[in-house]
Amino acid sequence: MNVAVSGGTGQLGSRVVNRLRDHGATVRVGSLRSGVDSYSGRGLTELFTGVTSPST
Ligand SMILES: NC(=O)c1ccc[n+]([C@@H]2O[C@H](COP(=O)([O-])OP(=O)(O)OC[C@H]3O[C@@H](n4cnc5c(N)ncnc54)[C@H](OP(=O)(O)O)[C@@H]3O)[C@@H](O)[C@H]2O)c1
Repeated sequence: MNVAVSGGTGQLGSRVVNRLRDHGATVRVGSLRSGVDSYSGRGLTELFTGVTSPST
C-alpha cells in the first residue's frame, strides 16, 4: 500500500507514519517545510500521486 501523510513530520503525523510503516506501507511524508501546503494546495498533487486505495 502506498500512503501519503500531509503533516507527517509533526507530533501526531510522525506517529501515524511510523504505525503505517510498521504495517508494511510505503509512506511518503509531506510537510510545510518540505513544500507541501494543505491550505493553498501547493505540492499536494506531487505528494498524492501514486497513492493507492485501501482495497488495492
Ligand atoms: N498534538 C495533540 O495532542 C493534538 C490534539 C488534538 C488535535 N491536534 C491537531 O492535530 C494537528 C496536528 O497536531 P500536531 O501536534 O501533530 O502538530 P505539529 O507537531 O505542530 O505538526 C504539524 C505538522 O503539520 C505540518 N504543517 C503545518 N502547516 C501545514 C500546511 N499548511 N500544509 C501542510 N502541512 C503543514 C507541519 O510541517 P512543518 O513541520 O514542515 O511545519 C507538521 O508536519 C493540528 O491541527 C492540531 O491542532 C493535536
